[in-house]
Amino acid sequence: MGVLFFFFFFLLFLELLEFHSPILRIPVTVSSLAYPDFPCKPPHHSSYPFCNTALPISTRARSLVSFLTLPEKIQQLTNNASAIPRLGIPHYEWWSESLHGIAPNGPGVSFSGTIPSATNFPQVIVTAASFNRTLWNLIGSAIAVEARAMYNVGQAGLTFWAPNINIFRDPRWGRGQETPGEDPMVASAYAIEYVRGLQGGNWKSSDEIGNVFGAKRVLSGNGESESDELMVSACCKHFTAYDLEKWGDFNRYSFNAVVSQQDLEDTYQPPFRSCIQQGKASCLMCSYNAVNGVPACARGDLLELARTKWGFKGYITSDCDAVATVYEYQKYTSSPEDAVADVLKAGVDINCGTYMLRNTQSAIQQGKVNEEDIDRALVNLFSVQLRLGMFDGDPTRGQFGKLGPQDVCTPEHRTLALEAARQGIVLLKNDMKFLPLNKNIVTSLAIIGPLASTNKLGGGYSGIPCTPKSLFEGFQEHAKNISYAAGCNDVPCNSDADFDEAIQTSRQADFVVIVAGLDATQETEDLDRVSLLLPGKQMALVSSVAAVSKNPVILVLTGGGPLDVSFAESNPQIASILWVGYPGEAGGKALAEIILGQVNPGGRLPMTWYPESFTNIPMTDMSMRADPSRGYPGRTYRFYTGNRIYGFGHGLSYSAFSYKFLSAPNAVSLSGTLKDGFRKNILSQVVKEVDGASYIQVDKMQNCNSLRFSVQISVMNLGDRDGNHVVMLFSRGPKVLDGSPDTQLVGFVRVNTISYKSTETSVLVDPCVHFSFADEYGKRILPLGDHTLTLGDMEHIVSIEI
Ligand SMILES: *[C@@H]1O[C@H](CO)[C@@H](O)[C@H](O)[C@H]1NC(C)=O
Ligand SMILES: *[C@@H]1O[C@H](CO)[C@@H](O)[C@H](O)[C@H]1NC(C)=O
Ligand SMILES: *[C@@H]1O[C@H](CO)[C@@H](O)[C@H](O)[C@H]1NC(C)=O
Repeated sequence: MGVLFFFFFFLLFLELLEFHSPILRIPVTVSSLAYPDFPCKPPHHSSYPFCNTALPISTRARSLVSFLTLPEKIQQLTNNASAIPRLGIPHYEWWSESLHGIAPNGPGVSFSGTIPSATNFPQVIVTAASFNRTLWNLIGSAIAVEARAMYNVGQAGLTFWAPNINIFRDPRWGRGQETPGEDPMVASAYAIEYVRGLQGGNWKSSDEIGNVFGAKRVLSGNGESESDELMVSACCKHFTAYDLEKWGDFNRYSFNAVVSQQDLEDTYQPPFRSCIQQGKASCLMCSYNAVNGVPACARGDLLELARTKWGFKGYITSDCDAVATVYEYQKYTSSPEDAVADVLKAGVDINCGTYMLRNTQSAIQQGKVNEEDIDRALVNLFSVQLRLGMFDGDPTRGQFGKLGPQDVCTPEHRTLALEAARQGIVLLKNDMKFLPLNKNIVTSLAIIGPLASTNKLGGGYSGIPCTPKSLFEGFQEHAKNISYAAGCNDVPCNSDADFDEAIQTSRQADFVVIVAGLDATQETEDLDRVSLLLPGKQMALVSSVAAVSKNPVILVLTGGGPLDVSFAESNPQIASILWVGYPGEAGGKALAEIILGQVNPGGRLPMTWYPESFTNIPMTDMSMRADPSRGYPGRTYRFYTGNRIYGFGHGLSYSAFSYKFLSAPNAVSLSGTLKDGFRKNILSQVVKEVDGASYIQVDKMQNCNSLRFSVQISVMNLGDRDGNHVVMLFSRGPKVLDGSPDTQLVGFVRVNTISYKSTETSVLVDPCVHFSFADEYGKRILPLGDHTLTLGDMEHIVSIEI
């Protein structure tokens, strides 16, 4: 009873944080972190071996653990880790958040202090829509600088629980907005850039971005490399197959995701593998849900895979109270002690919440947990703190010691937030080049809709922006004679009482911008949608305003989840549609610049926009592949067979573009890439034949790298405006097996283009990665035969031969 009560209170606490964080002041326990309280403080506490920076990290971590008593060890198994006064170690709060800027959703961050705000970048789904790796990386580094600055004044920790890289599998998902979208390759690329930026990849090397990664300087004699150092720690979450909040009778705490090996291998896991292997993230968070009957935090096999196969170095945290849920909600174990034992043995190192704090002692007494299990966890935890430099003595003398309030909300960071919104906003419809508006002929502009006046433009996990401005205020800086009417008094829009005012306001203006869509009342943590239509009477508001306006209107859509706006797509009175998602603190300015033609939009959708009928399929069905025998249409652009409102990658520009393949091979031969034993029996053993088509298992190949080739591409800007353009190269392989994707993204690159000029670029193709997919056993296979590369409507065939 006590336990359950606490648990519910805790969830309530999470929800309060989500909705009221800027107002709700979290008790500032972080103040104990602020200097002058730090580990290894001279003169009394600096002589321990764990303070000796000449020793390897692992030696120092083990030494520290060896000093601790069992009760002291148990006190460390929580996000709110206790102080160890006799060793001079202050308390530490592991839980800080930084999804798209420093946010107070975790108790590690506080905005009451000398730093009152932090840069609020667009929500991740919007930043993803830029398809610009440099931008993703720079945002990670800017957040790292602000994080260190806030840490230095005692307002944040150094361990941040971002990025969220679960696949945006279902359009109803309340947290799809937090992710880079539905494509595993894009999510992987995002994870790599964000984590490298956040963990300090740029800071360490040089001011040159792009070639800074992987530069390893071996530190004197101890075998550690510079890449082990962390500016701040990033966390790949939520591992794995987590993408349902609350839908019907299902909720994330008790949901069992039934996932095939095939989908696990080529949809759910790739972002995590990349986040760890290439991003080198120092934290992994296991999710609430079960995966095929076993709660994710008890999936020792999957956590082990991350450490051994993917080379994960860092700590594994449970999602908040995801150890309690193993027993309480998943009912996977018959006691709290068994839940603690199961997750520790599976490889979890720390529990967000107090469940391990309260149940580990008795688990040991009952012989379910050994002290060695705890020691292993503590070595992982302290190693990350050591890599962060937390045991190197006076932090003000460290390489990040000078960062402070002057490094937060800098003009550079705020410009980057603006740049992200400019690059991420997507133009969905633009009849007869209605946009951009000519500034000189816009004598009056009406802005309509409740979402135009809010300055909460960041979506979930937002902090307090440097300069909060609404979309309406964004227009005020760029145009004169602007009027505003809400039309609906809130986003749920259950009443049309205010329609008349909006109609009158619109009638009088030359041009009308209607802002409609979603906010946290519709989609957020613990809340999935049930419909893809605009909420309440919003659709009626849009149509009524469009019907009376002098000119066709511009519809601006907010929200992270796809909307069925087919009514607007087909209405000639609605000339243009833009998706701004949650564009962050500079979103209003970016939107005004695009509508008035100062910026040419180049964002493209990172997720499919499905029609309302898609909601007939259960959200709980994790299958990616279509199954006609049960009327199941499949999910995402790779497998979905139904109609779409807008496809993955859709996004218009004020210019038009054409492509050319400048060079790409016509054939690639596998000879020489098969492992020795297989070469002899190529046809009989390795190459499987199905209905005349054949394929080969990728793990039977020795040297996939030698198959890589570069595709040279020319992009012609056919319009009278310069503009950035995202080139997307897709491939379509032979359908050798059930479950072949219809098409998949091979590469993307955002390029600068000049009006009426062509630009050259290239995409590196690795057939083993980009042309392969998983078979029903979760083994990656590469189909032999013709693979069609597509660039817009251009095609080029590359044949994979033996
Ligand atoms: C964290 O733990 C400390 C004791 O180490 C306690 O005083 C504080 O209230 C705790 N904070 C939270 C948010 O639970
Ligand atoms: C301002 O807009 C109104 C209509 O909303 C229009 O009648 C008026 O002429 C405009 N004023 C200027 C100075 O353009
Ligand atoms: C990618 O983003 C960076 C950072 O904002 C920017 O400097 C660069 O121009 C962008 N690239 C393109 C092609 O838009």
